[in-house]
Amino acid sequence: MKMEVGVLKNANGSAIVEMGRTKVLTAVYGPREMHPRHLALPDRAVLRVRYHMTPFSTDERKNPALSRREIEISKVIREALEASILVETFPRTTIDVFSEVLQADAGTRLVALMSASLAVADAGIPMRDLIAGVAVGKADGTLVLDLNEEEDMWGEADMPIAMMPSLSQVALLQLNGSLSGGEFRAALQMASKGIDELYRMEKEALMSKYSAYKEVN
Ligand code: CDP
Repeated sequence: MKMEVGVLKNANGSAIVEMGRTKVLTAVYGPREMHPRHLALPDRAVLRVRYHMTPFSTDERKNPALSRREIEISKVIREALEASILVETFPRTTIDVFSEVLQADAGTRLVALMSASLAVADAGIPMRDLIAGVAVGKADGTLVLDLNEEEDMWGEADMPIAMMPSLSQVALLQLNGSLSGGEFRAALQMASKGIDELYRMEKEALMSKYSAYKEVN
């Protein structure tokens, strides 16, 4: 695992997160004036998210155009992220989030969501909590935390879950395949342990940037 914030000069906030062989870079711009203006909302900021896989991120070259899958994942990430941001603080503005998958080995939506959450925090945008997430699944009849691509593709179930840990709230939960009630509860417990560890690392990544500032000044 590797997490670093403030990695891009021209964005208001940025972060790169590596989880195993999955790597995602996110840039955040805003809150800034919304164009086209008629899409702005009078009571809150509009959050726009683009999740995109680079052509070199997968085994076979990926077409750089946005696929249906990427449009759907962008929506899922936006809905999760929006719950964590105090969007009502910035009416008539937009917050733009660009997540680029540099290398994919399963779990890209969660790594993108974590890098987006860190990049929003790095931009100084007020938030309810950071978001941390991991996938739990079932492969060969066994529950496994943080699936890789083979486990994701050939396993019996894949359940990405993301939380706002301090609020004990679920920000994202999807399930592909099937789990029994007991397996579901065990999977949630496994995920929750992983999420606590990820949350701790996120806070460390933010603190290490700002403690470096403190030392310089
Ligand atoms: O990445 P995530 O697990 O959130 O989403 P998925 O749709 O379950 O995709 C699982 C994995 O399949 C991705 O992480 C990639 O490693 C791989 N994949 C790929 O190689 N090429 C694509 N066009 C889409 C997915």
